[in-house]
Parts: sequence; C-alpha cells; structure tokens
Amino acid sequence: MHLHKYEKIWLGFGIIALAIFLLIVGITAFSQGHTPSGGMDMIDPKKVNETAPFDNPGVTKIDDDTYQVAIIAMAFGYNPSKIEVPVGKEIIFKATSTDVVHSFTIDNTTVNMMVVPGRIATKSYTFDKPGNYLILCNEYCGVGHHMMFTEIEVVE
Ligand code: CUA
Repeated sequence: MHLHKYEKIWLGFGIIALAIFLLIVGITAFSQGHTPSGGMDMIDPKKVNETAPFDNPGVTKIDDDTYQVAIIAMAFGYNPSKIEVPVGKEIIFKATSTDVVHSFTIDNTTVNMMVVPGRIATKSYTFDKPGNYLILCNEYCGVGHHMMFTEIEVVE
C-alpha cells in the first residue's frame, strides 16, 4: 500500500528531526558548561574548595574600583562568615553551594541570589552607604535554615 510507505517516510523524517534537535540541545548545553562567562557558570560541587575563586573565599581587590567576593554557602552558614567591603565600589559577589540549594540575600539591597550546587551565581552591587548589612538565606534548606545568616560590613 502506498499510504503505508509514505507513513514510514514521515516517521523516519520525524526521528531524524528529533535526533538533530537533541544534538543541537546537547551541543548547546555542553558548550555552555565549558564557557567561563555569564551569570550561571558551572562548577563541580565536590571540588569547590579547590576551584578558583572558592579556593580562597572572601574579598579580592580586582582594581581600584572593583572588588570580588567569593562565598561558599553550605548547611547552615557561609564561608567566609565575616565579610568587609568598601563603600562606593563595585562589588562582584560570586557564590556557590557545596550541598543543597541556598540563597545569598543581602537585606535592603538588590542582591538576592539563588545558590545552587554545581553552579556559580554572580551579582554585582555597589553599596552607597556604610554600615552593617544582614546576609540571609531565604531558600528553605533544612532544619538549620532559620539560623543561616551572617553580616557584611561596608566601610568608608
Ligand atoms: Cu540555606 Cu536556607
């Protein structure tokens, strides 16, 4: 029957189209995982402590106007626990998790990053007033969730 033959052809075409689609998706995902740009870089959650910049958590001066802060979130706290940054400079926060999903949220600012194991979350912020700001986790992460907070000191 002729109809049967055409159905086979279309079925074959559909499978090939699907295969091409999956290949493109796969290549895209692969290349994204290996490109160190954008706000959601990948990281091996088991090798956080030996992967830059998290092998040296805390504040690093990049240039006169830019500082980077590397933060490791884990149940139930942040490393480093004490962070001090200058006022009026661009602060680039980079955070990752070694266990479950947390957040890195600085009260009264626009810094509110979901911190997912396997990924590096990035957010840039400039404090316009010195003082102590509360850092807290607003993603439920377990029994110690409500104790997961620390402070950032913004100094002149
Ligand atoms: Cu970490 Cu909630």
